[in-house]
This record gives sequence, structure tokens and C-alpha cells, in this order.
Amino acid sequence: MPNPQQPHGPLRSFGRIKSRPIKARQAALFDSLLPSIAVPETPFDPLSLKPHAKAVWVEIGFGGGEHLAGQAAQNPDVLILGAEPFQNGVASALRHLEEAGAGNARIHPGDGREVLANLPDASVDRLFVLFPDPWQKARHNKRRLVNADFLAEAHRVLKPGGAFRFATDWADYADWTLERVLASGLFDWQAGRADDWRTPPADHLTTRYEEKKLGDIAPVWLDFLRL
Ligand SMILES: C[S@@+](CC[C@H](N)C(=O)[O-])C[C@H]1O[C@@H](n2cnc3c(N)ncnc32)[C@H](O)[C@@H]1O
Repeated sequence: MPNPQQPHGPLRSFGRIKSRPIKARQAALFDSLLPSIAVPETPFDPLSLKPHAKAVWVEIGFGGGEHLAGQAAQNPDVLILGAEPFQNGVASALRHLEEAGAGNARIHPGDGREVLANLPDASVDRLFVLFPDPWQKARHNKRRLVNADFLAEAHRVLKPGGAFRFATDWADYADWTLERVLASGLFDWQAGRADDWRTPPADHLTTRYEEKKLGDIAPVWLDFLRL
């Protein structure tokens, strides 16, 4: 029976939720910084968090937070909401945000689908899903973040014309996402030639997972526009 608290199903962990012990300085940030920058856990208007934000961006699965903190530092007028259940990743992101002095990011130390569920319709300008867990074995494909429910929810929270950036270095996940996004009829894909998906977008910041080159292809970037 579906759990009303988790309309999107349980979070399946590809890696571990916690691996090596978190360094004392980073652990302290869970008490000193996280409470003041946590994403609300009930429905909220993102502009109540930063009233003059010129845009609202969301990153799901920010890993170590390098992209989240980098984008926050480079775009001080933008409010960036990030979600990541991996505790060491959250600790790392808190450190990056503190070091960057970026006060325009908010963090949800958990499932990004909870953040989307609490956002109003048409409230987000950009959504990033960068190198999501590949779940590459056929019997695990259904655990992938990108599915019809996720795309419907992404479409709901994005503004018309808003952008959804997906990146992966697994060929099958690229095909999987392209197939589902195009079949959904909810997004437009304006790429015309291979360079459009093989070349990192000008505003992309390299992520830690991307550097590991664990996939079976060079990274591809799929930039979709919400119809
Ligand atoms: C392969 S890692 C990539 C991390 C980062 N984007 C990068 O490129 O370095 C995928 C991340 O997505 C996180 N993740 C998986 N499911 C998630 C969900 N439902 N909400 C938020 N994060 C999720 C995992 O914990 C993991 O850290």
C-alpha cells in the first residue's frame, strides 16, 4: 500500500548514506550551520527564503556539494536549494558553502523528491540532476531517479521555459532519460548536433563524481526546456 508520507516511494541507496567518519569541523557544521540553512520540510514559497532572489534553482543529489556551492558563489542573486541524503556529502557541502561565504543556498539532508513535493507549481527556474546513481543493472533500472513521476513533478515545479539539466556518463541512462523526457511531451530538447550534448555547457562546474569517470561513455549533458 502506498505510504502517504512517501508518494514517490522509498529512497533506495546506491552508495552508502554514511561512509567514513565525518571530520569534527564538518560535523560541527551540522549544528552551527545546517539548522539556519535547512530547506523547510513543509510546503513553502522559496521566495520567502530570499525575497529578492532573481531566480530559484534546485539541485538533486549534489554529492559533495562542489557544484552547488560553486554555483551559489557565482550567482549570489539566485536562491539554490540542494538535496542529498549522503551525510558525508552534506558535511562536505556545508564546508564548501562556509568557505565560499555563500548565503544563498539551502540544503535538505535527504530525498530531493521531498523538496519538490513541498514547492509550489511553477516556482523553479532551473533543476539540476548531475550524474545521478546509474543503477545500471537491468533489474535495478526501475530505481533510477528519472521516471515518469519524477518528470511530472519536475514539470509541475518548473516555470514554463524553465530548464532541466541532466548529466550522466552511462550510455544507457542517457538513452533512458532522453526516451522518457521526449515521450512525456513535457519538455523540449533543442540540441541539434552532437556537440550540444557532448560539450559541457559554458556554465557547468565539474562535479566530483564526474571526475571519477566511472561510467561507460564520456559525460553527456542534456538540457531540456519545460513546455
Ligand atoms: C553518483 S552521485 C553524484 C553526486 C554529484 N551530483 C556529483 O556529480 O558528484 C549521485 C548522488 O545522488 C544522491 N541521491 C540519490 N537519490 C537521491 C534522491 N532521491 N534525492 C537526493 N539525492 C539523491 C546520492 O546519495 C548520490 O550522492
